[in-house]
Amino acid sequence: MPNISISISTILVWCFSLLLINSPSFSAGGTNETDRLALLAIKSQLHDPSGVTSSWNNAINLCQWMGVTCGHRHQRVTELDLSNQRIGGVLSPYVGNLSFLRYINLADNGFHGEIPQEIGNLLRLKKLALPNNSFSGTIPANLSRCSNLIHFLVYNNKLRDKSPKR
Ligand SMILES: *[C@@H]1O[C@H](CO)[C@@H](O)[C@H](O)[C@H]1NC(C)=O
Ligand SMILES: *[C@@H]1O[C@H](CO)[C@@H](O)[C@H](O)[C@H]1NC(C)=O
Ligand SMILES: *[C@@H]1O[C@H](CO)[C@@H](O)[C@H](O)[C@H]1NC(C)=O
Ligand SMILES: *[C@@H]1O[C@H](CO)[C@@H](O)[C@H](O)[C@H]1NC(C)=O
Repeated sequence: MPNISISISTILVWCFSLLLINSPSFSAGGTNETDRLALLAIKSQLHDPSGVTSSWNNAINLCQWMGVTCGHRHQRVTELDLSNQRIGGVLSPYVGNLSFLRYINLADNGFHGEIPQEIGNLLRLKKLALPNNSFSGTIPANLSRCSNLIHFLVYNNKLRDKSPKR
């Protein structure tokens, strides 16, 4: 009965793939500890006079940190919203380790320096909002790797390029 054995093995392969896809360590790398270290590295490069990131400390679970949203299932960081908070400083390349990030909003702050090309590692990223800052340099070519990126806002910065190189 070749047809039946083929379909059973097909189903087994399919189930196994689903298991792998649903395992966060397979699909994106890292754990919530990777996310925690990345956010602390980001915080260390910020100038945050209003203390928005003061909740980013070891006494509080990272999913409760201000501006941070986690996915329910994996408890990995899916959103980072620090918009309109008078935050200055540079955006750490560690942002590229937040591999479950879908949404970044840093609009209306005082970020300067370059947009880290490590953002190109965020393959789930859908929205990247950086307007009204002082980002300089060029838009990183690696952003073209973010194939799910549908909203990309960088107006009112000091960038030389207007669109990502492809
Ligand atoms: C990581 O997730 C585990 C299981 O959900 C949890 O017990 C642990 O506190 C989390 N670690 C951090 C740093 O949030
Ligand atoms: C995270 O990113 C930084 C800089 O981009 C890198 O040095 C580090 O090894 C990465 N991995 C982890 C697990 O933190
Ligand atoms: C950017 O700044 C302009 C002018 O101050 C303001 O009207 C606009 O709402 C700001 N946009 C965002 C997304 O912060
Ligand atoms: C940028 O992308 C290239 C491949 O497209 C890769 O080799 C390089 O490591 C990436 N850089 C960073 C900082 O992720």
